[in-house]
Amino acid sequence: MLLINPFVILSETISPIYMQWFVIVMAILVVVGTLLDIIHKKNVKYFFENAKKAKLSAKKTLSSSEKISVISKTIVSDIATTSELGAGKRRTAHLLGMYGTILFWITSVIMIFCYSNPTSETPSAWPIIWHVGAIMTVLGGSWFWFFLRVDVYSEAQPWYRIIKADLFVLALVATSLFGLVWSYLQSLNLNDRWDDKVFLVLFIVSNLVLFGGVYWSKFAHMFYKPGAAIQKNLAEADGSRDNLPPEADAPEQFGSGIKREEPKHY
Ligand code: HEM
Repeated sequence: MLLINPFVILSETISPIYMQWFVIVMAILVVVGTLLDIIHKKNVKYFFENAKKAKLSAKKTLSSSEKISVISKTIVSDIATTSELGAGKRRTAHLLGMYGTILFWITSVIMIFCYSNPTSETPSAWPIIWHVGAIMTVLGGSWFWFFLRVDVYSEAQPWYRIIKADLFVLALVATSLFGLVWSYLQSLNLNDRWDDKVFLVLFIVSNLVLFGGVYWSKFAHMFYKPGAAIQKNLAEADGSRDNLPPEADAPEQFGSGIKREEPKHY
């Protein structure tokens, strides 16, 4: 199964052109959903107005090379390793899910656009990376959803309580999980059996929910978070600190109580 490009087998019943159109429609849904979200929340407008206001209180003007250095460090640390999540389980789970998803999406596009004719010879690296990416996403996303999300981890809600905020993580896990099961069943060569077809439908529906739900889900954080991290680090470097008060010069005194328990009551 790991070595088989599932889209080649699918191309015996569904023309590759439909698969390619499906990918294009999903990309359009992401763009439209994100733009509607930006218009509705006015977050990008606020972001630029805030950055302009903060610039007025900058203590120094950054040169181009200083800006490039700050942005490069942000890409390497804040974005590529999601340092905002600190060291520990939360960051590990996020990295598993994030890189799993990136691998899954990139290899899906490569296999659908370059190797989805019934006669195509897919280099075995692509299906391996596709399956590994899907497994990483299922592991990272499930770890986060079952054990680490704030309502369960800190607010003692039962793990099975589902709210709108779970739309993104659940749709993400569902696409990878259904994709894996579909690929496995298809690789068994079940011919006229229904199993793989059911999971293909579930794979398609979960993709429609994931990409069609951008406006209602947390999908767009993958675009907003990097922008916000770059702005925050530039504001640190030019001394404007986003108009926040300067750091206290006195040592932090919280008493010994703070050491009794790991902080997790947000
Ligand atoms: C393909 C890219 C990405 C994927 C698939 C992804 C996936 C996820 C998922 C599934 C969640 C949990 C959402 C929830 O609260 O239900 C999440 C939360 C989060 N993500 Fe991402 N993410 C991506 C990119 C990024 C980037 C680039 C950053 C930062 C620069 C980032 C920072 C965060 C933060 C801070 C949280 C909140 C975590 C928490 O509540 O513990 N993510 N992400």
